[in-house]
Amino acid sequence: MAAHGPFDLTIADPPYGVTSLWWDKRVDDWQAVAAACLKPSGSLWVFGSLRYLLADADRFEAAGLRYAQDIVWRKANGTGFAADRFKRMHEIVVQFYRRDALWREVHNDVQRVPAVTRNKSVQMSRAVNHTGAIGAAGYHDDGTRIMKSVIEMNGVRGGLHGTEKPVALLAILIRTSCPPGGLVGDFFAGSGAVGEAAALTGRNYVGCEIDPHMAEHARGRLAARA
Ligand SMILES: C[S@@+](CC[C@H](N)C(=O)[O-])C[C@H]1O[C@@H](n2cnc3c(N)ncnc32)[C@H](O)[C@@H]1O
Repeated sequence: MAAHGPFDLTIADPPYGVTSLWWDKRVDDWQAVAAACLKPSGSLWVFGSLRYLLADADRFEAAGLRYAQDIVWRKANGTGFAADRFKRMHEIVVQFYRRDALWREVHNDVQRVPAVTRNKSVQMSRAVNHTGAIGAAGYHDDGTRIMKSVIEMNGVRGGLHGTEKPVALLAILIRTSCPPGGLVGDFFAGSGAVGEAAALTGRNYVGCEIDPHMAEHARGRLAARA
């Protein structure tokens, strides 16, 4: 696998190797390429089941990638391939950054959403006559809250790829981890959903896809947006 860079953000949605689909073969050591193509301030967001990620834990480590955090994408419509397991309604997305970088130097624009319910901790702090002196500027409630690590969003139906990810979810990752105008790398591009999210959010994009037909579809999708 070859990739251009350096990337501000790389998104990787690798094959998990759990079906008999021809493209669903585990790819070895892509993590080393991802690490080599990442800016010191960059990060890598990886889609994967815990089963997939644990099996590859040593490879992330050997590539010099450090775990930062994970989020859960909770789907409204899950997948039930196996009758002997829970119906799977979620996917994990894990953020890594370079071990030789400092976390505070990694681009991290934590997303905020409108506060739709009253925040208990704020109510409690008021009850004890909170002075508001949080940080130098004091506490100011701007009506937003930090986005939660569980994101509920429908999966894509009738997309170009069987495991296509929602553009809105990808746009959250991009806004969080890539500065405006920065470069997003997409290691397993499939339908090019990451490319569409990059265009939507004003970032540049390079995608890698091994299936020439899928790559052609992705190119067409992105050309239609340009
Ligand atoms: C899980 S799918 C990605 C779906 C994509 N995120 C989307 O939203 O459409 C994984 C993709 O990786 C591609 N792939 C598999 N091995 C690859 C390799 N060595 N290099 C690049 N792409 C590869 C497959 O063809 C497949 O399209």
